Amino acid sequence: MSAADTKHKAHIEVTGLTMAYGDTLIQRDLTFTVNRGDIFIVMGGSGCGKSTLLKHLIGLLQPAAGEICYNGVSYFDASARQQDDMRRSWGTTFQTGGLFSAMTLAENVALPLQQNTQLSKAEIADLVHYKLALVGLAGFQNYYPSQISGGMQKRAGLARAIALDPEVLFFDEPSAGLDPLSSKLLDELIVQIQQTTGATIVVVTHELASIFAIGNNSVFLDPESKTMLDCGHPQRLKTDSPHHQVRNFLARGKLSRGQLAHDQTDNSHREKTP
Ligand SMILES: Nc1ncnc2c1ncn2[C@@H]1O[C@H](COP(=O)(O)OP(=O)(O)OP(=O)(O)O)[C@@H](O)[C@H]1O
Ligand SMILES: [Mg+2]
Repeated sequence: MSAADTKHKAHIEVTGLTMAYGDTLIQRDLTFTVNRGDIFIVMGGSGCGKSTLLKHLIGLLQPAAGEICYNGVSYFDASARQQDDMRRSWGTTFQTGGLFSAMTLAENVALPLQQNTQLSKAEIADLVHYKLALVGLAGFQNYYPSQISGGMQKRAGLARAIALDPEVLFFDEPSAGLDPLSSKLLDELIVQIQQTTGATIVVVTHELASIFAIGNNSVFLDPESKTMLDCGHPQRLKTDSPHHQVRNFLARGKLSRGQLAHDQTDNSHREKTP
């Protein structure tokens, strides 16, 4: 990374992004910035398009309109080589895709290193050991995914995602299916990884505890109007968003009917119409 890049506070800039599957519009007119070092939350109700947005951010799906820039370079306008470089600087864990079940944890974490670097076997073994230790799995390198708990599997997935020291990490529902304690530990691990690596982290989640525990920036996608309603620090959105849907979501649906009705009248001139 050049000195100029590190001064570039905006890391990922999404401008006028519209996403669709064929003729089916999922979200339109998304414009927001993820700053370097953010833990940025993509939030919104089930089915609003959070995973779809993540797939656009990592170049798996092509926008119907708009632009996604990394360090000022538009991913979809970049050359194949630039795109390869960009992809190599990202680490991902998917909502459904997990670890390879026929491989040990060490083999799972080693895979991206074998595929993307010229490191020797011994160097890879050292790095795998280090990454597994970083996520609290020292000593488990020879276990298969089925032999460890769900929380440990998530952490092993994280170790694989950070294998190549990514500049950006993408997590889709990292704590889905975990008990509250494992989920809290995973949140703490995500914050720790951000602090130790300085990576920019984009997390898709609708878990309120996680949103407030780890997020310093966010975007809220609305399934009804099919666009974003707000972006910014989740704590600020909880109290100050002009959109009752956002405040209601962040208050666990506890806004009173009176507040909602009042806001609907109040905000009708401010909100975007579908
Ligand atoms: N490959 C696809 N082809 C067509 N439609 C799809 C495809 N993938 C997702 N969708 C639809 O797009 C919409 C958004 O899906 P997406 O998975 O992005 O939502 P989400 O916000 O991640 O939901 P969840 O909270 O349940 O994970 C849904 O209506 C879904 O059915
Ligand atoms: Mg999803």
